[in-house]
Amino acid sequence: MGNQFDDEVLAGDGFRLSTLDLGDVEDVTSACRDEVTQRWLPLPNPYTCDAARSFIEEVAPGMHTSGAGLVRRIEVAGRLCGVIDLKKTDWKTRETEIGYWVAPWARGRGLAGKASRVLGDWALSDQGMARVVIRCATGNTASQAAASSAGFVREGIARSAGIVHSGRVDLAIFGKVYADLDGT
Ligand SMILES: CC(C)(COP(=O)(O)OP(=O)(O)OC[C@H]1O[C@@H](n2cnc3c(N)ncnc32)[C@H](O)[C@@H]1OP(=O)(O)O)[C@@H](O)C(=O)NCCC(=O)NCCS
Repeated sequence: MGNQFDDEVLAGDGFRLSTLDLGDVEDVTSACRDEVTQRWLPLPNPYTCDAARSFIEEVAPGMHTSGAGLVRRIEVAGRLCGVIDLKKTDWKTRETEIGYWVAPWARGRGLAGKASRVLGDWALSDQGMARVVIRCATGNTASQAAASSAGFVREGIARSAGIVHSGRVDLAIFGKVYADLDGT
């Protein structure tokens, strides 16, 4: 077992989790400027094309090579519809965290939950992880519904554990462990 995730393209039902490239700059910029994305993620504001380029060219590859995680684009019919990643990976405890956003033009089809199930289950079954978590602001109802639909169990609240542009927020912790794979 290495301390890097395999750089794989994963297939879901009607979508793929693939590698970001510079052709995604415009879509990433536009999705990260969206009001709902900005409400729940502490992204640069204003979000520039340069921020998207640096995320695609430097941050995402750096997360892979350092072992911190793996960034995938959620792709439907060839178009970027969101981004999902594994991050903050601890190879000693074998725990990692999933984060995501879905582009405004692709919301309402449960993509975040479906992608989280594919990526989380792969991390547990193929990549040696023992536990995967999703942490959502308690006010972020859509994200919590996505985590539940992916078979993650709501474990509790970490108080004042997150930061969004409007201030500190409580985070609901959702977890999936290796033993859950059979039952979810
Ligand atoms: C969270 C997010 C990724 C969900 O996108 P999505 O996969 O398209 O989600 P959907 O719109 O299909 O909704 C998923 C679920 O939430 C529910 N939902 C959506 N909006 C809701 C709302 N405002 N209030 C209550 N429930 C809501 C849906 O009914 C659905 O429930 P179901 O799975 O039980 O049917 C998307 O809203 C987003 O990108 N938000 C901004 C970034 C973000 O919040 N990232 C997560 C940070 S933890």
